[in-house]
Amino acid sequence: MSSAPRGDRKPVTLTKLHEMRALGEPIVMITAYDHPSAVVVDEAGVDVVLVGDSAANTVLGYESTIPVTVDELLMLAAAVRRGLKTPLLVGDLPFGSYEASDEQAIATAHRFVKEAGCDAVKLEGGGAMADRARAIVRAGVPVMGHVGLTPQTATALGGYRAQGRTAERARQVLDDALALQDAGCFAIVFEAIPAGVTDAIMVHMEIPVIGIGAGPSTDGQVLVLHDLLGIHDGFQPKFVKRYADVKATMKAGVEAYVDDVRRRAFPLAEHTYGIAPEELERLKEQLPPHRTMA
Ligand code: KIV
Repeated sequence: MSSAPRGDRKPVTLTKLHEMRALGEPIVMITAYDHPSAVVVDEAGVDVVLVGDSAANTVLGYESTIPVTVDELLMLAAAVRRGLKTPLLVGDLPFGSYEASDEQAIATAHRFVKEAGCDAVKLEGGGAMADRARAIVRAGVPVMGHVGLTPQTATALGGYRAQGRTAERARQVLDDALALQDAGCFAIVFEAIPAGVTDAIMVHMEIPVIGIGAGPSTDGQVLVLHDLLGIHDGFQPKFVKRYADVKATMKAGVEAYVDDVRRRAFPLAEHTYGIAPEELERLKEQLPPHRTMA
């Protein structure tokens, strides 16, 4: 189904997301990391775009999200901003850029708003991070929380695995989510949580919950663009649905180019600029004679 042209849709606001939740209209969120992808996801009609720290793996070639820096994400977020008209833009605070103090968290959040034009920021973790979220909200920047599997602290969580699989661990996820809600977050991502646990938690939530591997009962869903489009063929979590095989399409295109150049089948006349014959003649008259090798 095609969506309304970009110019015809009103920019998505926090109020709009809360209305969608109240009306039971699913919220669609996706990641993007560059200008052309931003234009595509906007034209496709998504509601929220996240410049995730997953950029570390998807576009920057790091093994995990740990090394990606604020400056790297700001450059990507600014490019995404330039490509968006309608969706809400959320910038992900990378590991080490917000945990140390409220001052650090506020300063980093302000950079995402001022330098990259983000509408909001996202941070991972409940507990102490709820205080950071509260501080950022009080400093004027809307915050999206993120609980369950939080890749920045995956080692402490026992690796990249589903969270909340015992009653105690599920209770912890609920407590984290409630702490972030109380801190003033406008929305929360639930990542890799059993669907039954999500169902049990949802009745306590008063803000939009966006799921990724958290079952169907959340208010919206988010996927990583490169996972759903098949732009890479690396590890694919259980919760990913692949909607395209873009890597195969890209590879076929580049292989065809390589083949054409090697066979001298490219460029053809239609790819080549012309010059008036008399100008070419005049040029030849001006050129020095060919040098002959001794
Ligand atoms: O960085 C990211 O892409 C994320 C999403 C998986 C929610 O945090």
